[in-house]
Amino acid sequence: MFSEFAGQERVCERLELMVKAAQQRAEVLDHILLSGPPGLGKTSLAYILANAMGVSIKSTSGPMIEKAGDLAGLLTALERGDILFIDEIHRLQPAIEEYLYPAMEDYKLDIIIDQGPNARSVRLNLPKFTLIGATTRAGMISAPLRSRFAMQSRLDYYTAEELQKILLRSAALLQIAIDPPGALEIAARSRGTPRIANNLLRWVRDYAQVRADNKISRDVADAALSMLDIDSDGFDEMDKRILETLVHKFSGGPVGLNSLAVALGEDPGTLEDVNEPYLIMQGYLKRTPQGRVALSAAYRKLGVSEKTRPGDLFS
Ligand SMILES: Nc1ncnc2c1ncn2[C@@H]1O[C@H](COP(=O)(O)OP(=O)(O)OP(=O)(O)O)[C@@H](O)[C@H]1O
Ligand SMILES: [Mg+2]
Repeated sequence: MFSEFAGQERVCERLELMVKAAQQRAEVLDHILLSGPPGLGKTSLAYILANAMGVSIKSTSGPMIEKAGDLAGLLTALERGDILFIDEIHRLQPAIEEYLYPAMEDYKLDIIIDQGPNARSVRLNLPKFTLIGATTRAGMISAPLRSRFAMQSRLDYYTAEELQKILLRSAALLQIAIDPPGALEIAARSRGTPRIANNLLRWVRDYAQVRADNKISRDVADAALSMLDIDSDGFDEMDKRILETLVHKFSGGPVGLNSLAVALGEDPGTLEDVNEPYLIMQGYLKRTPQGRVALSAAYRKLGVSEKTRPGDLFS
């Protein structure tokens, strides 16, 4: 239910309104695209939407659909109003995307069966269904696919207060004793991400069980998270290494994503989708056409004076 989902108020308000309107008209919900960094609740929202509409949801992901036949199998198994959830929809093969267009628009699927001289096209009529696509990389969705989603919503990082609410609810479900300042401490170090918050809660619970009478206070949370090397800004080892590499090895940039990734021994896609968004949102670095650039906050964080950037000596 929407009431169990904290934060993302504007997105939830729109989606709730769509559900209500569709229900009043006894219509099928329009196609919805959800985008945003990992762990912010895209999958959860898809399930909440199915629940609110009272329909079934079938879940798959872009890379899992290899052949047109896979897609046909999924679509023909749906009943009117059902939701097909495609996670990582930006990773659909272009050929599969082409099949999806008429399915989304006219609820028809033209598939070619057989090969060579026997090849022929068969048209399947599909029930009216709702496609919910999720992606961490909205920019990688082709324009024709994007335009077929009537509603496109972007999830944003959560505030510490929103994460605190989520943590207090999770703690109650898991029967963990935690006070509000303890929850806020974990929240502030969760990089705006509910999945991280819930994972950290599990760790802090273990810590509290072994070292602190099973009770999570602000101090207990702080000690537990320090033991994981998660600092007061929620930075983990990787975040620190990214800033250090950018500032020390590349003089604060600009440096291209690929060079930065090689220097870090990390996959560029992961860097771009998982690590960078939070650093960008918090104002530590920015993306420019020339590459990544460290901002003042990064120098402050590393305790390095911005004026002594080697690059500046020559500019
Ligand atoms: N707004 C929220 N309120 C409460 N719990 C949430 C909220 N958003 C996410 N969660 C919890 O965080 C976890 C991650 O959410 P979810 O799997 O929906 O994220 P996602 O955006 O689909 O991530 P990914 O891109 O990695 O698939 C889940 O355990 C979910 O219960
Ligand atoms: Mg998901």
